Parts: sequence; C-alpha cells; structure tokens
Amino acid sequence: MMQTFYSPAKINLFLRVLSRRLDGYHQIASLFQTINLHDLLHISFAEEDLLTCDDPSIPIDRSNLVLKAVALFKHKTALSFGIRIHLEKLIPKEAGLGGGSSNAATTLWALNQLCGCPVEEKDLLSWASEIGSDIPFFFSHGTAYCTGRGEIVRCLPMLPKLTFWLVKPNQGLSTQMIFNKLDLNHRLIADDPETILSGFFSGKPSYLNDLERPAFEICPFLVEVKSKLLEAGFHTVSMTGSGSAFFCIGNPVELPSFVKTMFHKQLTFTSRLSNQWYQQKV
Ligand code: C5P
Repeated sequence: MMQTFYSPAKINLFLRVLSRRLDGYHQIASLFQTINLHDLLHISFAEEDLLTCDDPSIPIDRSNLVLKAVALFKHKTALSFGIRIHLEKLIPKEAGLGGGSSNAATTLWALNQLCGCPVEEKDLLSWASEIGSDIPFFFSHGTAYCTGRGEIVRCLPMLPKLTFWLVKPNQGLSTQMIFNKLDLNHRLIADDPETILSGFFSGKPSYLNDLERPAFEICPFLVEVKSKLLEAGFHTVSMTGSGSAFFCIGNPVELPSFVKTMFHKQLTFTSRLSNQWYQQKV
C-alpha cells in the first residue's frame, strides 16, 4: 500500500554566521520556521529501493538526500527491506528553503512509521545530522533555534502566524559556494543571536541574514531584486538560508511585474503536532 507524506519547506527568519570551524563548516545561530510550501513523498514497500521524481532536473541517484536517508535508516536499525519513493517536487531547489533536507527528514520519519516505529524521534533527529546540517530541524514542531552547524535544535513555541510572499529569482545558489564566499571580517550584523531571538518573541523581530552579502557578491542581480521589492512597498525583504529565495513582508498595492517571471507565492507558517508529521493544514 502506498502512503503519502508531506515534506514542508523552511525559511530562516534570521541567520547569523558566528565563526568558521576547523572541520570546514560554520558555526551558525538561526531561527528556522516551517512554511506551507511542500513536496510530497509517495512511499511503498517494494522488491528493491527505487527513487523517482517528477522533476527531471533533480538527481535520483545515491547523491539524493532521500536515498541517503534510506541508507542511514537501514544502517542504524539493521532492518532490511526495499522501498519505492516517488518525489513530487514543488519546493524550488537552490533556494535556501531546505527542500532536500526536508525530504530526508520526511523519509526518516516515514520509514520509522512504516516499520512499526522501532526507534524514537530523538534518535532520528540525532542520526539526521550525519547526512546534512539542516535535517534535524524538521524533527522540531516547526519553530526552532538552531546552532552548531545547524544541527543543535532548540524547539520553541509557535510564533504568531504571518502571511508573506516568497519570491525565488530564477538563478539558484549553491550553499557551499555562499559559505566559501563569506568574509567573516565584513559582516554587517554584530548583534548577539540570543538577543535577536528574543526579539521575535517580544514583537520586535529583526530579519537579518549574514549570508545575504556573499550571495549578493556572487549574484549582483539579487541586489536589484531586493531593492525593487522594497520599492514596491514590502517593509521587509530578507533572503532565506543561502538563497536565492526572499521572503517579503508587508502590503504592497501591487506586486512588481518582474516578479511574475519568477517563482512567487503567498504563504504562511506551518507546524506539526506531537507524534504526527507535518500535514497540509494544521
Ligand atoms: O550540511 P550540509 O551538507 O547541508 O552542508 C552543505 C555545505 O554547506 C557544506 O559542505 C559546507 O560547505 C556548508 N555549510 C557550512 N556551515 C554550515 C552548514 C553548511 O559551511 N553550518
């Protein structure tokens, strides 16, 4: 029997990069939030493992985080089975929306359910960091403060729901390239991340992202996109993760016409209940 699992995107309401680590990663501090833009994973047991995807530009070999999650789950639990997964992609890639990471987290959750819950969620969360820094976050309830490489997850209460526009310029950005380009001596933001974090819970949010600067250096077109969105009447336009998508808050009279040539959608925050995965509506 085939089952369908909802795999939400995330945005980073703020993201500070604190230092470069000896292992090549960066120490970050970021407020992550799931949003109601999602992929779908259609999963059933099968003779052999097989991943398919409706988007031909997504690799479906072992480099895909979904298959990495399948291999990780089998390795950790020592269970053996075959699984067929069809991925229906709606989250833009190379956008900073965590699509691949969410797919991996959803795969881990789904396999555990389909195998009769042999392990606890906290085990899935800790294993997840072995295949990607952003995957553990999705085992929160949808709002979390993430530190370390991103894999240390502090679950937080839901924030007041906010409606925003997501705009994804056609050029995508590679996370690794953006982190490599970041000059830690030239960050605009010096604020303490815990202070920024508390601002979101006391009605004084600061939407900041240290990765905007390197992204703008690599892709100057993004500077133009951001300033046109601000001119149109949004009071906040902030890049999510390593880009290239922006979330835009405010009430412009009209969306600027160039946005219509890009992926754009009005969205809101989402969350999940304890012992359930994310669903279409909560
Ligand atoms: O962990 P993940 O595989 O998603 O990271 C992709 C790349 O992004 C890493 O290889 C690294 O170059 C960069 N990265 C980083 N610091 C982080 C997270 C990711 O430098 N905290």
